[in-house]
Amino acid sequence: MALRVSNPKLFFQFLVTLVTLSSATKFVSGNFYQLVDIIWGGQNVQYQDGGDVLALSMDTISGSGFVSKHEYLFGRITMQMKLVSGNSAGTVTTFYLASSGVSHDEVDFEFLGNQSGNPYVLHTNIFAQGKGDREMQFNLWFDPTADFHNYTLIWNPLNLIFLVDDVPLRVFRNRLEDGVGFPHDQPMRVYCSLWDAEEWATEGGRVKTDWTLVPFTAYYKGFDTDACYPAYDYSKCQWSSAWSPWYNQELDNGQIWNLKWVNDNLKIYDYCEDTKRFPDGLPKECTLP
Ligand SMILES: *[C@@H]1O[C@H](CO)[C@@H](O)[C@H](O)[C@H]1NC(C)=O
Ligand SMILES: *[C@@H]1O[C@H](CO)[C@@H](O)[C@H](O)[C@H]1NC(C)=O
Repeated sequence: MALRVSNPKLFFQFLVTLVTLSSATKFVSGNFYQLVDIIWGGQNVQYQDGGDVLALSMDTISGSGFVSKHEYLFGRITMQMKLVSGNSAGTVTTFYLASSGVSHDEVDFEFLGNQSGNPYVLHTNIFAQGKGDREMQFNLWFDPTADFHNYTLIWNPLNLIFLVDDVPLRVFRNRLEDGVGFPHDQPMRVYCSLWDAEEWATEGGRVKTDWTLVPFTAYYKGFDTDACYPAYDYSKCQWSSAWSPWYNQELDNGQIWNLKWVNDNLKIYDYCEDTKRFPDGLPKECTLP
């Protein structure tokens, strides 16, 4: 490619701008030593393969968990996870985003364990400006304990998309203009944990944890973030969609078809269909087109 540079000074300026723009959104992949801090149950956390894999365990004393060193304001964030195998009843394995301020934002992937031979339940929820109660649950189309799979959140100013191996399971649109909360102005960190929730996790608490089976272990790897870092110059992030195609991403036709397939075949709970739970009317976002 022949590049005619008529004004070297301007061209240099252009290069500097390019470099600064692309550093506002950074693609970071890899090593857990560099990317996360252990925040809970350190004795039950194990770095493996030189930090490429992190194993979280739960024993009779404690579960365990970690948090990303960075915070993000919009991004495409992926974690590969391999869940507790065998009888995992009572356990919950998580990958979620959460803010730290008072009006809490949170976006959850939570995997509810189950007795051997029964499927896991993927439980999702969204909190915006302190309001949650937006649960949706799904079965998966594979055994999530046999291998690693990709769990991804695309979080941009238009929508939040939950993907499993690139198949969209759930979309939550930004309806701030209609008065529905949407996480948009507070950075969030990535949290992952394995903990005991035998009071409610499995068949509503009917099936308890089998404590003779400890330790329970779940594995994480491939933590990828292509995200905006508010700690850097965040305003630049909004200009750089050329470097971050997820910034304007909405579902395309093929993905809409997949979403519909998931909804018809794998969805097991949807708060927007739970009229008993909301006798005074469904939440507003459920009634918008
Ligand atoms: C998860 O994503 C990685 C990176 O794109 C890919 O190599 C891997 O095959 C994916 N795993 C599955 C189960 O799709
Ligand atoms: C566990 O498996 C049973 C039987 O397939 C199912 O009814 C239940 O919803 C599953 N999940 C949980 C979290 O209880």
